[in-house]
Amino acid sequence: MSRKLKIAASILGADFSCLLEEVKKVEKSVDLLHVDVMDGHFVPNISFGLEVVKSLKDKVNLPLDIHLMVEQPERWIDPFAKIGCEYITFHIEATVHSNRLVNLIRKKGIKAGVALNPATPENLILYLLPKIDMVLVMTVNPGFGGQELLPEVLPKIRSIRKNAEKMGFNIDIAVDGGINNLTAEKVVREGANVLIMGSYIFNSSVPEKVLFDLKNKLITEDVRRVEGGCEH
Ligand code: DX5
Ligand code: ZN
Repeated sequence: MSRKLKIAASILGADFSCLLEEVKKVEKSVDLLHVDVMDGHFVPNISFGLEVVKSLKDKVNLPLDIHLMVEQPERWIDPFAKIGCEYITFHIEATVHSNRLVNLIRKKGIKAGVALNPATPENLILYLLPKIDMVLVMTVNPGFGGQELLPEVLPKIRSIRKNAEKMGFNIDIAVDGGINNLTAEKVVREGANVLIMGSYIFNSSVPEKVLFDLKNKLITEDVRRVEGGCEH
């Protein structure tokens, strides 16, 4: 099954003092704007919330990918749905009503994503595969940008991809944390197709070029893999 590669710019990596300017630099080079909403409880950090997203929304020409890193994610579905977003992703560890939450998100016409922390086994979300649009695999411990990818999480990506294929679902698998030009290749090889990147993009003085090069590299790799007869 072929899948579209998508790149999501994570604004946690941007300079908040000129957030809009930062987003404008990458707007034409990415597919999604990834927004980490943190509450200081589910993760040991506080980022930004509804009002910041609201003020960005109309000025930015990118679909929003909301990553709820909060306790009681059910409280935030309606407010973010009202702003209008492409995906809302909640953490499986943050709710005991994941099925209900997926239904709630989808009823609003929004794609539903479920995120897993590095220590969370994939079997917790396999039953949800028929009704979700994305699995977000945290490749670092959540809460902060600029960390290194944990390689021990890689097999989880492959396992989720295999299970989804077995069930006949071509879902999005996103990876979040420590994604750069080197780790991107590895996660794509495991079956990821949505690359969420913060510091790699925003720390660059030439983000457009960095993204152009990365896409070229991944496309070339993909062509080679398909020609070699092992399309994932
Ligand atoms: C981390 C967040 C990420 C973060 C990734 O908890 O979920 O979206 O911005 O940052 P980098 O790409 O710098 O690892
Ligand atoms: Zn995130």
